[in-house]
Amino acid sequence: MRIAVTGQSGQVVLAMLERAATADVVIPLGRPGFDLERLETIAPTIAACRPDIVVNAAAYTAVDLAESEAETAMLVNGQAAGEVARAAAQLGVPVIQISTDYVFDGALDRPYREDDTVGPISAYGRSKLAGEEAVAAATPDHAILRTAWVYSPFGKNFVRTMLRLAETRSEIGVVADQWGCPTNALDIADAIFTVARNLLARPQDGRLRGVFHMSAQGEAVWADVAEAIFAQRAATGAGPANSRLDCTKLATIHGVTLPEWRGSLSSCLTRLMTEQTG
Ligand SMILES: NC(=O)c1ccc[n+]([C@@H]2O[C@H](COP(=O)([O-])OP(=O)(O)OC[C@H]3O[C@@H](n4cnc5c(N)ncnc54)[C@H](OP(=O)(O)O)[C@@H]3O)[C@@H](O)[C@H]2O)c1
Repeated sequence: MRIAVTGQSGQVVLAMLERAATADVVIPLGRPGFDLERLETIAPTIAACRPDIVVNAAAYTAVDLAESEAETAMLVNGQAAGEVARAAAQLGVPVIQISTDYVFDGALDRPYREDDTVGPISAYGRSKLAGEEAVAAATPDHAILRTAWVYSPFGKNFVRTMLRLAETRSEIGVVADQWGCPTNALDIADAIFTVARNLLARPQDGRLRGVFHMSAQGEAVWADVAEAIFAQRAATGAGPANSRLDCTKLATIHGVTLPEWRGSLSSCLTRLMTEQTG
């Protein structure tokens, strides 16, 4: 399987490069040649890869900054996502779009299902929702995978921040009023490969296409995650109060269930702490 994936140093991109089977070729696309802010660079770069499938894992992910850079966020997460999907459609291949719980307002008191009403409360959330809509409008041959609270051994994320702070501070304040589930990018990568195989194996199966929720099993508040880290950041910004995603549809239709969050967090920590001491 030849997979063109957008982004070069993102958590999900690096996880896909690490988790790819030997028979799979993952081709990361990044700046300057491939730039989501320059729409004209998108289709030619994707076509040159001759992919079997395209994964749009790049995004404008600076949630707080997006409030003052809403136009750039909308260009990268909205219009460019549509352009990536159009490029895939022109080549006759499926596209997997990575999206987020931020498309919801977070007010619901149970895990979100795919058909729950969207209503983003941030510029980032609005731009990611625009991306979902642009992808769906560009091609029916898509799977939109909404995830939440992504961490990994790479890049900037809550887990690495906590580990760093733990070295210099004896007390750390962490919010305990936002519910979700920390999701390891390495588990996301495994899920993407399975969904990609399913899409390629059954090109006419509409059930495999559409929107799916994809987070780890279980639920937590950020304080639980911080506690779990310290057993083995201050405010997390304006996130939705409820980021829990009901992932039953992905399990039923694609046969994909991500592991329970504590086990995946533990293996990420083991790796990061070994790297620190090694
Ligand atoms: N992080 C989370 O908690 C979270 C939660 C829910 C959903 N998601 C979604 O999951 C996906 C992956 O997130 P992540 O955590 O892997 O993101 P990340 O680590 O912040 O990486 C973002 C990637 O996007 C690329 N990118 C940004 N602007 C670009 C542009 N103009 N042109 C080309 N590439 C550009 C970056 O490129 P460079 O490699 O050049 O830096 C980087 O590879 C995104 O769609 C995000 O919205 C993330």
